[in-house]
Order: sequence, then structure tokens, then C-alpha cells
Amino acid sequence: MTQTTADVVRALLAEDPSFHGGGQRSWAVDTRLVHWLAEHVPAGGRTLETGSGHSTVAFLTRSGAHVVVTPFGDEVGRIRAWCAAHDVDTGALVLEEGPSQRVLPRLVDDGPLDVVLIDGDHAFPAPAIDWYYTAERVRVGGHVLVDDTQLRPCRLLRDFLAEEPGWEQLPPVGRTAVFRRTSPAPVTAAAWFDQPWSALGPYAVGGEPLAERVQLLRVQLRLRTRLRRALARRHDASPSARNERR
Ligand SMILES: C[S@@+](CC[C@H](N)C(=O)[O-])C[C@H]1O[C@@H](n2cnc3c(N)ncnc32)[C@H](O)[C@@H]1O
Repeated sequence: MTQTTADVVRALLAEDPSFHGGGQRSWAVDTRLVHWLAEHVPAGGRTLETGSGHSTVAFLTRSGAHVVVTPFGDEVGRIRAWCAAHDVDTGALVLEEGPSQRVLPRLVDDGPLDVVLIDGDHAFPAPAIDWYYTAERVRVGGHVLVDDTQLRPCRLLRDFLAEEPGWEQLPPVGRTAVFRRTSPAPVTAAAWFDQPWSALGPYAVGGEPLAERVQLLRVQLRLRTRLRRALARRHDASPSARNERR
């Protein structure tokens, strides 16, 4: 008999299986996110995650179709084995094996998604790439989860989305930022000057903080005026100027 969601979550968190690093390591999401997924993924929903692990099991307790994108298919083999041993149905699981940077662009027309978890490659700009190639697929009311916001590449994406129209930032779940899509308008097509994070941030001009640049321009202007006046005074006091005045 297939286990209930609560049973699966209890077993997963109690056993804390190691799906990563050849089965020796676990880089699993926070237990709070496991609970969040088990509660908020719509039953029978369409979902996708970059990376795999405990989150995959949590998705499988609810999803009707769950795509996992990872270059390490062996992780998914271990997840399948754990699920088989615990009567968790893996019929919804589809492995898209490969780096998300390469896989996701070819999935852009694969239909709407209810929840996307970005937790694959954490090197810059991979989290942003994962968002870019999945964002338009997230249905209005659907969620994007950005894990590991303690890391700068993930935090950068969180900070961008926090200011971006079309998304509502919900309270974080541990180190995972949570966004809900609020608009059917395209979310990846804006010009840079229509993106609040790009246009209004402190690094809006020339790579230097805008306030510092304004300050610098003021100082330069003051110095130029003083120099011009000093040169004029020197010229006025020179013998040639005195001769000109005669
Ligand atoms: C932090 S772990 C994911 C943890 C997982 N969400 C869990 O709850 O156990 C990072 C994952 O990223 C995957 N990964 C590494 N490089 C990747 C890439 N280029 N594209 C997609 N996934 C990648 C690894 O296979 C690993 O599963």
C-alpha cells in the first residue's frame, strides 16, 4: 500500500538518507522545506526541480508530474530505490539528466508548472539561468523556491525577484526564498530600465554607487571652479595683463 504523505515525510526525516556524493553525503534541503513541499505542492500538480534529493521525495508525495534536472542520474537511482523500499510511488518522476544550463532551454515549451525549486548548481550565474528558463512556465499563483540564499549567487536571484513586478515574495522557509507569481505578463522580457533591481539599485551607474558618483561630480565641479578662478587671478596679476589694461 502506498504510504501517506505524513508517513513518508516522517520516514525521510527520521532516516535522513544520503543520496549525494555516491551515496555517502546528503546536501538536503532544510527539514522545514520538506514540510513546506508536502503541504503546498498541489495534489497532482506539475513541478520541476534542479538538483535532487530529499526534496524529490517530498515532491513525489504530491506531484502528478515531477521533472528532476541533474547531471548525476545516480542520485535519482538512489532516490528511486529508497522510494521503492518505502512504498512511495515514483510514477510521476521524470529524470532529465544533464546540467540544467543545457537541459532547461529545451524544456521551455513543456507546459505550465505549479512549483519550481532551484537547488542545482549554485555557482554564479546558474541559479539565475535556472530561473530564466523556467519562469515563464510558472502559472499565475505558482511558486518559485530559491534554496541556499546564504550563498551569493542564490541571494542575488532572491534580491532581484524581491523587487521584480510579477512576483510576490512570501516569508522564507529557512534559507529558502519563496516567490509566488502574480501576473500573466511575461516575466523575462523586461528592458533593464524597467527592472527595479537593475535600474534603481545603488550600482545603477558605471559600476560605482550612484550617490558616490553624484558626490564625485560635485567635488570635481567645485575644484574646476576654484582652478578657473585661481588662473584668472594669476592672469589678472601678471605683467602682460597689467600692460593690457594700460
Ligand atoms: C544542494 S544539492 C540538492 C539537494 C536536494 N534539493 C535535496 O533536498 O536533497 C545540489 C544538487 O545539484 C545537482 N547539480 C549539480 N550541478 C548541477 C547542474 N549543473 N544542473 C543541475 N543540477 C546540478 C547535484 O546533483 C545535487 O543534487
